Amino acid sequence: MVNPSLLILAGDGIGPEVMTEVKKVIAWMGDKRGITFDVSEDLVGGCAYDQHGTPLHDDTMAKAQSVDAVLLGAVGGPKYDNLDFSVKPERGLLRLRKEMDLFSNLRPAQCFDALADFSSLKKDVVAGLDIMIVRELTSGVYFGEPRGIFTEGNERVGINTQRYTESEIARVARSAFELARKRGNKVCSMEKANVMESGILWREVVQEVHDKEYPDVELSHMYADNGAMQLVRRPKQFDVIVTDNLFGDLLSDAAAMLTGSLGMLPSASLGAPMANGRPKALYEPVHGSAPDIAGQGKANPIACVLSFAMALRYSFDLGDEAARLEQAVEKVLADGLRTADLMGPEGGTPISTSAMGDAIVAALDASL
Ligand code: NAI
Ligand code: MG
Repeated sequence: MVNPSLLILAGDGIGPEVMTEVKKVIAWMGDKRGITFDVSEDLVGGCAYDQHGTPLHDDTMAKAQSVDAVLLGAVGGPKYDNLDFSVKPERGLLRLRKEMDLFSNLRPAQCFDALADFSSLKKDVVAGLDIMIVRELTSGVYFGEPRGIFTEGNERVGINTQRYTESEIARVARSAFELARKRGNKVCSMEKANVMESGILWREVVQEVHDKEYPDVELSHMYADNGAMQLVRRPKQFDVIVTDNLFGDLLSDAAAMLTGSLGMLPSASLGAPMANGRPKALYEPVHGSAPDIAGQGKANPIACVLSFAMALRYSFDLGDEAARLEQAVEKVLADGLRTADLMGPEGGTPISTSAMGDAIVAALDASL
């Protein structure tokens, strides 16, 4: 059997710092669980520009297309702020997303009990929360034509167009149903079918895909404005939420903040299934390169560690190992270990990036 392949693109700023801790977890999986990845590493973002004059070399792009999953740290930093737009670090990440055609963006909102006090909501509303927002990422109103600012008579008019084809809706719906089968087996689809034709089509197509291909998954539909209310009122009623690009942008940011720090938030972007049945996949923390704390050993590696846990579950069908890793994170938090970003008003002594990584590995050891 060939080992699953993983391309690591640590990037800039705190990217390499948090990735160092994930590599400890990857090594542990090999040593203690016999789960070995063929890991290769390459450059993306500012560091790639420094080396090659481009934020993503063609060879790196080709590698990303050929591996089972890409794990990315973060890109960007003040050093690159004055670069021409075409070679900015972010362009490297955008090229990856575009050429891999990653249309399904996964943003979990998961609340670890030890951090429930961090939420702006009441503890019992968020404790144990574990939901997944699936946002369509490559179509919808951010891309539809016509678009622009035009003059009509003697005033200006700004136009954007919400446009979805049946196949675009069907593929993101499939992605959501596949995920649901690896989680709580429940999907809630959100649109505004009451006022938008694209929403009517969205609802019809999601229902059709469900009835034909995923009748075993529980499906419900909700208007997205009600969805926003329900997310802050009773978020635990959801498992997987699937929605369009615009609504998903807003709902995923709101849901993420139900649970606390940017340093805790993982994400994934998935594309079409490859020949081996696995979806094209890019896993990355939601945060950026954090130049204000880079190089100081202060960054919280948990967002990146949890991104790897998502890879275990959604690319490699290792849901048990993903849960083991998430429980290890839960344990170190329950033990009171905190990086600086997780310090509450009561204060305390923060631990370093590497101490947090070591503690997670120790908790993994304790799980055996
Ligand atoms: P940022 O996410 O890098 O930082 C925002 C704030 O959160 C900072 O105070 C930072 O110290 C803190 N923070 C972020 N991650 C943390 C972690 N793991 N542990 C502890 N604290 C953490 O966003 P910002 O400041 O807007 O952007 C900084 C640079 O990162 C820019 O060049 C930006 O373009 C880039 N960026 C890259 C992203 C990516 O690679 N996907 C996403 C967002 C921004
Ligand atoms: Mg947003």
